[in-house]
Amino acid sequence: MPFDFDTPIARRGSGCLKHDRRPDLDPFWVADMDFTSAPPILEALHRRVDHGVLGYAQAHEGLIDAVTGYLRDRRKAEVPAGQILHFSGLVPALSLAVRAFCKPGEAMMTCTPVYPPFLSVHHDAKAELISVDHLRGAEGWTFDWKAMEKAVTPSTRLFLLCNPQNPLGRVFTAAEVVQLAEFCEAHDMVLVSDEIHCDLIFDEDATPHFSALHLPERLAARTITLLSPSKTWNIAGLGYAFAVVPDDALRQRFSAARGHTLADNNALSYYAAEAAYRHGEPWRLELMAYLRSNRDLLVDFVKARQPHWDIIPGEATYLAWIDCAGMATDKPAAHFEQKAGLFLSDGTFFGWPRHVRFNFGCPRETMLRGLEKMAAAI
Ligand SMILES: Cc1ncc(COP(=O)(O)O)c(C=O)c1O
Repeated sequence: MPFDFDTPIARRGSGCLKHDRRPDLDPFWVADMDFTSAPPILEALHRRVDHGVLGYAQAHEGLIDAVTGYLRDRRKAEVPAGQILHFSGLVPALSLAVRAFCKPGEAMMTCTPVYPPFLSVHHDAKAELISVDHLRGAEGWTFDWKAMEKAVTPSTRLFLLCNPQNPLGRVFTAAEVVQLAEFCEAHDMVLVSDEIHCDLIFDEDATPHFSALHLPERLAARTITLLSPSKTWNIAGLGYAFAVVPDDALRQRFSAARGHTLADNNALSYYAAEAAYRHGEPWRLELMAYLRSNRDLLVDFVKARQPHWDIIPGEATYLAWIDCAGMATDKPAAHFEQKAGLFLSDGTFFGWPRHVRFNFGCPRETMLRGLEKMAAAI
């Protein structure tokens, strides 16, 4: 039975960040989708709530089995349960990594444009941030290895990678990920690989995901891989993510930095994650077909209606990165807010002004209405 991604769902007034922060605007910003989650996830949540007791939770056997099964079957990685750490979100794990591996005054490194918390978690450790722009090559977005070599310092301890990349939608190749891990090895950095978007790849044959889980043992020993079902199955509001840390000493140091700073996971999040990994695949496949059509329509629209703008079709995620070149302002998000009543993500927060990020994880008609409003506001 096909799932319904077309019928708009009223989210206003449901305690929803995306729609309720600015109810006066049409929201195409924060990365969640305007779709109900997969039915087996909602059923698992109902069952857990019906039990009625919602005391402190811990990762139950079924969740651990579902996560290791997902890693084995989807990510093709045999991961012992002891290498997995559970978190109430992926951003808290990014913050924890900086606090675990950077002393005050030391540095972490990343490449821009990037998901905004990558550019602010260093504050949690009073560390410095070194950021280098991604480079546009013949194959699309890639790393500027020369600039990275120039920017890195002896006190740089950590590299944060986003793969697939938010907001560029790029899926980095095995060669790129290995080269990055070797760069981290050469400069004695820990590599943190945020792979939250890895189940949202449009064509896994053309652009397969190379997880940091597949790095050779020597490089994997300095690597933390972060994963979550939250983006793919639209359950980010429940909060669940996990880290795979193969090296015992690295894992202990990472975990020990936690202290009392992070909340334990809520009882519902574990059951939603288990159901997503066990039973979510049919829904995910239909979602990807729907999102692929949205992406194609969006790219065609931008190319036809705003030929001086620049967009590279994303290989993953429901987020489109648009260079609004040629507009009279370098603050296009503010312009579209004032002139079109739209809430887009401002590229400035990703490190690149003049750009906007458009979230097309919504019914097609909603997306097209938003695009028409953008075009009318030029
Ligand atoms: C690359 C990336 N990492 C992390 C997150 C958020 O993770 P969480 O909600 O688990 O903190 C997002 C959300 O958009 C993201 O795009």
